[in-house]
Amino acid sequence: MYEPPMREPGLSRRGLLAGGALTAVGALAACAPGDGTAGRPGPDGTAAAGRRVPGEGASGQGAPGEPGGTTGPDAGQVTPASGGAATEPFHGAHQAGIATTPQTHGVFVGLDLLPGTGREAIARMMRLLTDDARRLTQGRPALADTEPELAALPSRLTVTFGFGPGLFAAAELEDRRPEAVAPLPPFAIDRLRKEWSGGDLLLQICADDALTLAHALRMTVKDARSFARVRWTQRGFRRSPQTQAPGLTQRNVMGQLDGTVNPRPGTPDFDRAVWVSDGPEWLRGGTTLVLRRIRAEMETWDAADTVAKEFTVGRRLDTGAPLTGQHEHDEPDFGKLDAVGFPVISEQAHIRRARVTDPGMRIYRRVYNYDEGLTERGHADSGLLFASYQADIARQFIPVQRRLAEADLLNEWTTPIGSAVFAVPPGCSADGWIGETLLS
Ligand code: HEM
Repeated sequence: MYEPPMREPGLSRRGLLAGGALTAVGALAACAPGDGTAGRPGPDGTAAAGRRVPGEGASGQGAPGEPGGTTGPDAGQVTPASGGAATEPFHGAHQAGIATTPQTHGVFVGLDLLPGTGREAIARMMRLLTDDARRLTQGRPALADTEPELAALPSRLTVTFGFGPGLFAAAELEDRRPEAVAPLPPFAIDRLRKEWSGGDLLLQICADDALTLAHALRMTVKDARSFARVRWTQRGFRRSPQTQAPGLTQRNVMGQLDGTVNPRPGTPDFDRAVWVSDGPEWLRGGTTLVLRRIRAEMETWDAADTVAKEFTVGRRLDTGAPLTGQHEHDEPDFGKLDAVGFPVISEQAHIRRARVTDPGMRIYRRVYNYDEGLTERGHADSGLLFASYQADIARQFIPVQRRLAEADLLNEWTTPIGSAVFAVPPGCSADGWIGETLLS
């Protein structure tokens, strides 16, 4: 019979809100099995050393209610290949969910702080939300979890927090807001809609399982409700590790290989491009996020032929190779001319316009597809949740977006309809909380 997961003695939501239990929570979290110490899935998406799956370990048994526990709700259902028990570390210098190999499902939630929610209340909210994230990402129920059974398969869950411009104003910390963490300048291509733009607080929740994601979303938003209301929710998806090995470039809803030229996590270029190292002290180890909701005009895209589609981007649709090369990762030759003297990769091709030569100055694109179903006429409402992480929005994101807005053949088939900008604080230690460097 299923036994509910054990609550840590003496811990209550009230205690947590009061702040006094924080150290205890941290200490417990730090020594709880599976918290931050579990391994990541191997490159092929199967179990790696340290990842906890049933039948592994000396006794072959986990504790009740924990992922991998033989008396847990899914005992007997989790196989080493299923990946449900896989965890991503929560604690560290950086928040998870950025350098993390992108999970299959992602949801971005923009929240607005309720009137009168000041610095102290925001700090209380962040302690509470950090505690939820710390538990849920490691396969443990949130405090007062109403469906604790659903926490047992974390499926590489990550919860990432971002602070929008309004949070700095509400906390009376305007002087600590990086200047570029503000609405982007308007671009001629924009058709922005209020319902997909702005927001004081971001929750970015990603997991390889949609049910795990739905549960984490509900638990965290429930705890945020006394402080903030939901402004928008944007859901996205990618190919699952069962469908395609995580290391390979994904296709987007337009059928293109998307993500070929992108800083690679774990490299010095990635660290330089993404993590703040010389910005405001409180944001060191953090980053910034620009989230653009970009509609794909699928009806007219479908009407274009392969030659036009490839000319637009400057890459082949089948292999993703540049039009001047053979293989996906071949260097594009922007100087190459065709028989009549025109550039093989057009002056207005997406990859030429978006190119940044210094790899440490690139943006990091961690995009999700979206598909909100069909209109009455049977047309798709789909596109990209274009999530771009960079150390500095003004130096990295804006110049690229400006060049694309000025001239990019792809603009014919894509329309930005949402835009939001967030500072993403650094990670925290076992007895810390996300946002403490700014708010405490
Ligand atoms: C729905 C909109 C978009 C689609 C479908 C799209 C698609 C693509 C594709 C297929 C590639 C080539 C493969 C690759 O390297 O990933 C690419 C490259 C790239 N895109 Fe986009 N993109 C979109 C929007 C944007 C936006 C808004 C930006 C930045 C503001 C951007 C920046 C880049 C960069 C930096 C590259 C790499 C260029 C290089 O080769 O150096 N893209 N995109």
